[in-house]
Amino acid sequence: MTEQWYQSLRFREDPGNPLTREERLHYGVKPLLNWYGENARDLPWRKNPEPYRVWISEIMLQQTRVEAVKPYFARFMETYPTIGALAQAQDDQLMKLWEGLGYYSRARNLKKAAREAVEHYQGQLPADYQKLLKLPGIGPYTAGAIASIAYQIPVPAVDGNVLRVVTRLQADPSDITQPAVKKQIEKELKPVMPEDRPGDFNQALMELGAVICVPNGAPKCGECPWEGICLAQRRKLTDQIPVKSTKKARKIQEKTIFLIQAGEKTAVRRRDEEGLLAGMYEFPSLEGKISQEEVEALLSETFGPEHEQWKIEKLPEGKHIFTHLEWHMTGWRLTAPAADGREAGGIFSVPRLTEHFGTLIAAGREELKTIYPVPSAYRVYSGLV
Ligand code: ADE
Repeated sequence: MTEQWYQSLRFREDPGNPLTREERLHYGVKPLLNWYGENARDLPWRKNPEPYRVWISEIMLQQTRVEAVKPYFARFMETYPTIGALAQAQDDQLMKLWEGLGYYSRARNLKKAAREAVEHYQGQLPADYQKLLKLPGIGPYTAGAIASIAYQIPVPAVDGNVLRVVTRLQADPSDITQPAVKKQIEKELKPVMPEDRPGDFNQALMELGAVICVPNGAPKCGECPWEGICLAQRRKLTDQIPVKSTKKARKIQEKTIFLIQAGEKTAVRRRDEEGLLAGMYEFPSLEGKISQEEVEALLSETFGPEHEQWKIEKLPEGKHIFTHLEWHMTGWRLTAPAADGREAGGIFSVPRLTEHFGTLIAAGREELKTIYPVPSAYRVYSGLV
């Protein structure tokens, strides 16, 4: 019964009388909303779509899968239950909560935007697309998502999922990495948005892209509410659309990571306040791939004859992919002699060591877990502390 009723809501195109581009989108709206009504995933931020919750979830979801976001979202809301609390977040704690999600400037922008909300909007997010757009870290997609999902304002929210499902629906071979193509799709979506359910409409498009018209692998066209009208499916073009111009190859950086350990302590240092992974903590490292002989020479130069008592251990290779850069990492564990007279970790302030590595902090295992935010780029080595 349900299945029949559901099937009847799908629109089937008469091949003798093909739809225009506008009509195709227009006829897609009802089947899409009905499909979403029946199939929307039960996500924590959907239960109670307050502006603050929508904002945080949308920022987290930008580069990260739903399943990975769930525990982060819960912890974030517990720690900073209001925009006012976020505005006063302590930076290291905020970064620690974000650790593992990557793209850390997102977290920094959240705090900046929260401060602006406190200063200008009584600690709330404005119910105004243009004002949202002016807040740090909020671009057209996020502003559209907050405005439509939390405030029911009929503005589109076009992300990669939406670009994929719409270009497939239209068998549109435009390059979706071009900003003009995104603008065009926003312009076409606006007039078909249902006034009473703009948030559901935007989320339904995203959901379709996340679970049916999936980003990797074959789309599940048999389960799609647009099965009768999707041109890419009819023309067997789903493996060619969307078109994305090929990106420039990423730069590769070789690095050698050192887990320098004395007793319970491991050496970490703070990264620069600017640039990649700004202000996060990391294990000391040197550029290039450093061999065992070079490590021995470094220890000998730093500690003199005492270096013979250090233990040197090769660690696994690691790799981390950023947007424009790849780190290819080699690692060494350097363990200080047990009978070192200095206070545990005091060895990290030996001047010759800091000449190589900069100022080092002696961090205990527990402190590494709870205090110092170490980006997931170092995951292989964090797991070996
Ligand atoms: N991806 C990002 N935001 C989403 C949302 N609100 N619903 C479904 N998928 C999403």
